[in-house]
Amino acid sequence: MIDRDADKRLAANAAVREIRDDMLVGLGTGSTTAHAIAALAERRLRIETVATSEASARLARSLGLTVRDFGGVERVDIAIDGADAIDASLRAVKGAGGAMLREKVVAASADRMIVIADGSKRVDRLGPTKLPVEILPFARGFVAGRLSRLFTDWRERADYRTDNGNIVIDGHGWDDTAPDMLAATLMAIPGVVAHGLFLTEIDAAYIADDGIVTRLERGRNPR
Ligand code: 5RP
Repeated sequence: MIDRDADKRLAANAAVREIRDDMLVGLGTGSTTAHAIAALAERRLRIETVATSEASARLARSLGLTVRDFGGVERVDIAIDGADAIDASLRAVKGAGGAMLREKVVAASADRMIVIADGSKRVDRLGPTKLPVEILPFARGFVAGRLSRLFTDWRERADYRTDNGNIVIDGHGWDDTAPDMLAATLMAIPGVVAHGLFLTEIDAAYIADDGIVTRLERGRNPR
């Protein structure tokens, strides 16, 4: 049986080898990123970090890493983050952990954005993966009505708030033939704060499958 957690650690360790002294590093969120945070702390480099969630910030600080407030940061050198699904064109769905808004901001600020994942996350099509949408609570009813036109089914996460105080609806059954159109449509709905489609942000991915790590680079992979 494939040890998915061991693969997550392998992918994380491979990505962390890109980090050098004096870098400002964006820390993603989730179980794969937790391995990267541990590997970074172990390397004892002279770096600073920013975190995409309170959970990652807590973990990083507990392991001795310096975590800066992202509010005072314009760019980071490199961001490392997980994904729920990623295709050969390095388009991904993220947000199962509910951190997609801050993850997207940090990814956009990064000179290089790396996804780390175990092989179960590599997909031919993104559509079967639930797509999280972060919504201002004030706009819940209005946005839910609009989402009914875009998803065959959706569920609001029960008793859940993001680090930004917002709610998350997971959309199921979406048309993945034009994800850029869906992304634009979602962001045009007042009250939608973020969604989990990462279509252009990712520069590279380290994916570990049954002990073998593959590195994918944007624009250089066979489809
Ligand atoms: C959180 C995310 C995570 O990176 C994604 O859900 C992957 O998590 P994991 O590494 O635990 O599988 O997008 O918002």
